[in-house]
Amino acid sequence: TDLNKIRNFSIVAHIDHGKSTLADRLIQETGTVEDRDMKAQLLDSMDIERERGITIKANTVRIDYEADDGETYVLNLIDTPGHVDFAYEVSRSMRAVEGSLLVVDSSQGVEAQTLANVYHAMEADHEIVPVLNKIDLPASDCDRVAEQIEDVIGIDATGAIQVSAKTGQGIHETLEAIVKELPAPTGTLDAPLKAMLVDSWYDSYLGVIVLVRIMDGTLKKGMKVRFMSNNTLHHVDRIGVFRPEMQMIESLGPGEIGFLTASIKQVRDTRVGDTITNERNGTPVALDGFKPAQPVVFCGLFPVDSAEFEDLRDAIDKLALNDASFSFEMETSAALGFGFRCGFLGLLHLEVIRDRIEREYNIELITTAPSVIYHIYMRDGSMLELHNPADMPDLTHVDHLEEPRIKATILVPDDYLGDVLKLCQDRRGIQEDLTYAGSRAMVVYDLPLNEVVFDFYDRLKSVTKGYASFDYQMTGYRQDNLVKMSVLVNDEPVDALSTMVHRDRAEERGRAMCEKLKDLIPRHMFKIPIQAAIGGKVIARETLSAMRKDVTAKCYGGDATRKKKLLEKQKKGKKKMRQFGQVNIPQEAFISALKMD
Ligand code: GTP
Repeated sequence: TDLNKIRNFSIVAHIDHGKSTLADRLIQETGTVEDRDMKAQLLDSMDIERERGITIKANTVRIDYEADDGETYVLNLIDTPGHVDFAYEVSRSMRAVEGSLLVVDSSQGVEAQTLANVYHAMEADHEIVPVLNKIDLPASDCDRVAEQIEDVIGIDATGAIQVSAKTGQGIHETLEAIVKELPAPTGTLDAPLKAMLVDSWYDSYLGVIVLVRIMDGTLKKGMKVRFMSNNTLHHVDRIGVFRPEMQMIESLGPGEIGFLTASIKQVRDTRVGDTITNERNGTPVALDGFKPAQPVVFCGLFPVDSAEFEDLRDAIDKLALNDASFSFEMETSAALGFGFRCGFLGLLHLEVIRDRIEREYNIELITTAPSVIYHIYMRDGSMLELHNPADMPDLTHVDHLEEPRIKATILVPDDYLGDVLKLCQDRRGIQEDLTYAGSRAMVVYDLPLNEVVFDFYDRLKSVTKGYASFDYQMTGYRQDNLVKMSVLVNDEPVDALSTMVHRDRAEERGRAMCEKLKDLIPRHMFKIPIQAAIGGKVIARETLSAMRKDVTAKCYGGDATRKKKLLEKQKKGKKKMRQFGQVNIPQEAFISALKMD
């Protein structure tokens, strides 16, 4: 295809502002899909994504559009993931296209997540076309939102297109703007192949499907290619494009976007941002910015029923095939038995994987407290990465600890600003910036990631009645006074309840945990001390008093069926408990005890 007739773009939007609806409209308007085949929300393919209203995997579609100038253009839309956990994937998708539609709900306004993604688009030197969506709604206020785009984002919004993805108004203007305002891609035909690996996923018929953007050269069916990051060779057996269903073609040239298959079995072998080139005489320089996926949040996943351990292993193996950013290794816990320590890109990623295991594989799980990666500097000068508080080395060898920090951007209506500042302050945040855009405040905080991974987002939503929007990026590591807090039940440490805390907050946290556990653990025949400790020093203590009477005593010598019934009931009850030393701890205690409220 003639480079001048290609336009590659992505859509930047906050969740619910109408990205999928707009994409569907663009596809429909150009006749790429017959109306009767039009399924609502073509681009969001996974059920969980649809249910949660989020787009996780990037997806793409190629549209032929006959413009008002009489020429036919090829428009390639790349659908970017819409969540902070996938910032790197977003940045790569943005590098694969030349422009973005910035879609903002004209009845709502700019949100923190929109900001973060617009910055990715700007970093990729995109031409950005603002689109004000939902103009059919009575609350739509295009002037106000256009002004906000200029104030907050700093781009000219005078020419913003007014659209209703619902009624179809403004869709034609949007297509014309894509052709007229976005630049055509550049690239050299007579050069070695240089293609960016934009995304990949597993298909049960075709194996791994690799989405690529051709920078230079040509990708042809039947050729041998090299993936530069891991220096692997692959024989390209299919090339195609999405319209949005797959259509096989013979080759892809500079500026084009499509997919290849090469009998690749694992998504793990394909890395987002990698450069694909010819087997021989390939390009000497790879595309810059490549980074292997790094999990940042870790937690233990254990089957509630220990007999399901093998099933859990199968489920995790299968999920990992299709998700290069999800890591796992076997873990044993004295309290919870056999399970896996898993690494995720963020909390949402964790939730998605956990939900899929529970729903698609029907395995009930216990999730231990999410932990970040701490850097432990030893006295001998070496550095250890700590993924699990239970593995904390002996303190006498430790010099100091560092924890990951983030820069959080929060947009919130004025009325709730006080609550947001308090929440950030409580989580050891350091305020960096506070500005206003109309009646909304934008606060920027430097926060420890550790204080955010557990329930920060839930708390933020609840103190602002859902009005705040939040986005973050990792900034680096910083030293702080961090300690491992252990919990002892009946004088036995319960490894699954160990957490890393700031020394100044340890007593408060320890007290709260002991109180919660006292409520969560049922009474036994004996008194049970519940303690929080740092090293050997107890910092908080509660005592669960003993049951007064032996309940089974009255059964002895009595009615046999009644005794049997009681034993059965006990057996059932036991299933949801874990025996620990002489104490039964209910499953729910492991996660509830760690919630801070
Ligand atoms: P994610 O896929 O979760 O990122 O959301 P999205 O940005 O793709 O939003 P989506 O297209 O799913 O739209 C969100 C909601 O807004 C849906 O209920 C749409 O029907 C509705 N919607 C989208 N565009 C319009 C519009 O122009 N007018 C009105 N009234 N509703 C719209």
